[in-house]
Amino acid sequence: MHILLIGSGGREHAFAHQLKKSSKCDKLFIMPGNAGTAQEGINVPINPLDFAMVGKFCIDNEIGLLIVGPEEPLVKGLRNFFMADDKLKLIPFVGPTQEGAIIEGSKDWSKAFMQKYNIPTAAYRTFTFETIHEGVDYIKQHSLPIVLKADGLAAGKGVLICESHEEAITEFQLMLREQKFGAASAKVVVEAFMKGIELSVFVLTDGSHYKILPEAKDYKRIGEGDTGLNTGGMGAISPVPFADVTFMNKIESRIIIPTIHGLKEEKIDYKGFIFIGIMNMNNEPFVVEYNCRMGDPETEVVLPRMNSDLADLLLAAATGTLADQTLSISNHHAATVMMVAGGYPETYAKGDVITGLENDTNVLVFHAGTTKNTKGEIITNGGRVIALTSLGENLHSCIYQSLQVAEKINFNNKYYRSDIGYEFK
Ligand code: GLY
Repeated sequence: MHILLIGSGGREHAFAHQLKKSSKCDKLFIMPGNAGTAQEGINVPINPLDFAMVGKFCIDNEIGLLIVGPEEPLVKGLRNFFMADDKLKLIPFVGPTQEGAIIEGSKDWSKAFMQKYNIPTAAYRTFTFETIHEGVDYIKQHSLPIVLKADGLAAGKGVLICESHEEAITEFQLMLREQKFGAASAKVVVEAFMKGIELSVFVLTDGSHYKILPEAKDYKRIGEGDTGLNTGGMGAISPVPFADVTFMNKIESRIIIPTIHGLKEEKIDYKGFIFIGIMNMNNEPFVVEYNCRMGDPETEVVLPRMNSDLADLLLAAATGTLADQTLSISNHHAATVMMVAGGYPETYAKGDVITGLENDTNVLVFHAGTTKNTKGEIITNGGRVIALTSLGENLHSCIYQSLQVAEKINFNNKYYRSDIGYEFK
């Protein structure tokens, strides 16, 4: 089978690495990919948002399975484009339609969905430019902190936690009056703050049946001890010690089952991943957000713990036969440490040569923001550069192994957190 994987981050390198191991995978293409995915398959320099070119590539290369890593092509309707074409609609496709991707594409939609299907989440109201005065009054009487969320996709930047009413009102007005996040903040969700510890839960569904993948916890802040600015993710661990059977059963019965049911009720034929951001508040799970994709860097610890053939599972999800599959998960711990370019998540350099990538350990070196220069050298090409994943008997040994390799890999101004998983060690 020829497989096309869309995306270019550490998540996609982890997918490519796992797919390449499948006996079903005869040829693997990654669109556009990075310097790491080029070691697993063939990178294809086509912009995934150019739907016509993606379609033509699939036909020309007899693609038998298409997997979409990031949310943007899904929210913009890549699957709908395929479904509207007689030939393309026959290609098994992992990723929801635009109607399904709205779980991530609109915070307002997903909050209303949760309310309708009694899925536990924080109280909220949504406001637009027309209701801005009502919104200001609502914020004035709201408990602190106040969470403001731009409704649409805002490159991971659209969520603000405001510690005072003044700050919340200023930001709220900037979002609605000045379009601080462009069209994404044409609607703003004002939400109660949930205090607890976060967990990332991943579900693969064919629209009726589902498999719960290993859970993970990511570390979003740039600084040690969870300090400083938010990033795309500085590391992740799996399993998560507090996500025991009792807690996961609550998530399944109160959140996963009603979510799959609700999507069906809404006539959304959802085939793909659902990433549920959970807040654990005194051992009770609440939904922070839904995403229509896998997490990054969580994928870098989730997939290495899966023993099942990934291509089989994904093909089953795409063709509505997931009930026939069994999911086998390793008991090993996994941890990933993300090496980033100095300055990230603010301004940082690109194009710095990366050395020390020769790896004679068991650590998985997943490339995130990398490419090759004209001399064939691997260079940095993004804020998050390399994710180092280790598997081991315990969290401590995983982190130790990843950090040993992080010391050997060099690029200008490299930075990483050495305390991933610190609360559980
Ligand atoms: N690690 C969080 C995300 O992928 O959105």
